[in-house]
Amino acid sequence: MKFYEEKDYDALSRRAANIIAAQMTLKPDCVLGLATGSSPIGTYKCLIEKYENGDIDFSQVKTANLDEYKGLTRDNDQSYYYFMHENLFDHVNIDPANTNIPDGTKEDSEAECSHYEEVIASLGGVDLQLLGLGHNGHIGFNEPAADFPQATHCVDLQERTIEANKRFFASADDVPRQAYTMGIGTIMRAKKILLVVSGQDKAETVAKAFFGPVTPEVPASILQFHPDVTIVGDQAAFSKI
Ligand code: GLP
Repeated sequence: MKFYEEKDYDALSRRAANIIAAQMTLKPDCVLGLATGSSPIGTYKCLIEKYENGDIDFSQVKTANLDEYKGLTRDNDQSYYYFMHENLFDHVNIDPANTNIPDGTKEDSEAECSHYEEVIASLGGVDLQLLGLGHNGHIGFNEPAADFPQATHCVDLQERTIEANKRFFASADDVPRQAYTMGIGTIMRAKKILLVVSGQDKAETVAKAFFGPVTPEVPASILQFHPDVTIVGDQAAFSKI
């Protein structure tokens, strides 16, 4: 695992965007696995700047997002579909047909999740997967559990995740209780992984996930077994390692 400690959120966002830009330069038709949450917003801002400066080109890039709330329509401003358009897709020259996000409006979880696995396979797999880190060690929406889920699946969100995400909704009651998420197996099949993390409140989780035992109780700990992982964090997030 490679660790880049940056002084603050802006610096870590620039570092992460540089790594993604390098991937896009080496392979213009690469498949990017994308994440939501507050952590990658700065990274997306830097990518938009690079695009506006003519340094990177999204015309051949394909994307597959990690997860989506079940039950939210795409025009709901809390859906991850909406988030991705607002924070990246609408500002760069990506072909919307090349972007993929699980469809939270699909009632039949099994059908939607197996369809999403087929979509990722048809892209030839993910070249670079961007991740954030949940306070309980989740990646995507893979919550602490008794085992590591292999494939895209429907998950019941844990109380801590609902609490953490309620800041984006009118109240905790409005936070969906379920989500579709790539499985740990899906994430581990990405050729490269780039995780961004910031803030003192994640310091304990960083220490547990990357320097503690590998256990499904801390889903991100599985990344210790991936051959090409880069963790980019600020000093606060790295303060307990
Ligand atoms: C959400 C997302 C994750 C994200 C995590 C951390 O629940 N499903 O993909 O990494 O929470 O979010 P944040 O970056 O806002 O702390």
